[in-house]
Amino acid sequence: MYQLAPSILSADFARLGEQILEAEKAGVDMLHIDVMDGSFVPRISYGMPVIESIRRITELPFDVHLMVQEPLRFVRDFKECGADLLTVHAEACTHLHTTVTEIKKLGMKAGVALNPATPAESLRYVLPELDYVLVMTVNPGFGGQKFLPSMLDKIRSLHKLMGELGVKADVEVDGGITLQNVREVMDAGANWFVAGTSVFGGDIKQNAAGFKAAFGNEDKCR
Ligand code: DX5
Ligand code: ZN
Repeated sequence: MYQLAPSILSADFARLGEQILEAEKAGVDMLHIDVMDGSFVPRISYGMPVIESIRRITELPFDVHLMVQEPLRFVRDFKECGADLLTVHAEACTHLHTTVTEIKKLGMKAGVALNPATPAESLRYVLPELDYVLVMTVNPGFGGQKFLPSMLDKIRSLHKLMGELGVKADVEVDGGITLQNVREVMDAGANWFVAGTSVFGGDIKQNAAGFKAAFGNEDKCR
C-alpha cells in the first residue's frame, strides 16, 4: 500500500502542533520524525522531549528516522517517548543486526536507511529481519535538497535482492520527493514516501491531496 509520511523537519516549529493536526486531518499515513545528532550528519534537529510532547496530540504512527551514530544506545528511549517505527542507518551501526533485533524486541517496526553511496546488497544478511528499507534519495542532513535520480536503480536492485531472498519489506524513500517525481519513484518500486518541503512548504491539505491522488491513480498495490 502506498503511504505518505510528511517530515516535520520542514514544519514551522513555532506552530508544530497545529501543523501536525492539519496533516492528520489531511489524511497522511504517518509522521516522519528526523532526529539528527550533529555527528553522523552536520546538524542537530530535535529529540525525545519534542517527540514526547507531540505524542500527546496525535494518533498518527511515528516513523522516527535516526541520523545518529551508534543508535543502539537510544533504542529503548525512543520506544518510551512514542516511536512506532524506528529507522537506523546501516553506516551508523557497528552492530546492525543487534540493533535491528533490539528494535523489534521492543515492539517497534524496524527499518534500515541507506545513504546514497551504500549499495542495496549491503543489506543481504539483515534484510530478512526488516519490516522496511529506507532508501535515502538525497544525502541525509537537510530538507529541501534535490532528488538523486540514480537512486531509482538502487530501488530496483533492492527489489531484485528481496526477490532472490524471498523477503517482502516495504520500501520507503526520503529526500527531494515531489509531485513531479513521485510517479517514477513509485514505478521503480517504492511504496512509502517521505516528503518534507513538498508537504509542509505550502498548503498542507492541498499538498497531501496531490500525493494521495498520485497514489490513487496507480492501481499497482503491493
Ligand atoms: C533528510 C531527512 C528528510 C528530509 C526530507 O536528511 O531525512 O526526511 O526532511 O526533506 P525533503 O522532502 O524536503 O527533501
Ligand atoms: Zn528522514
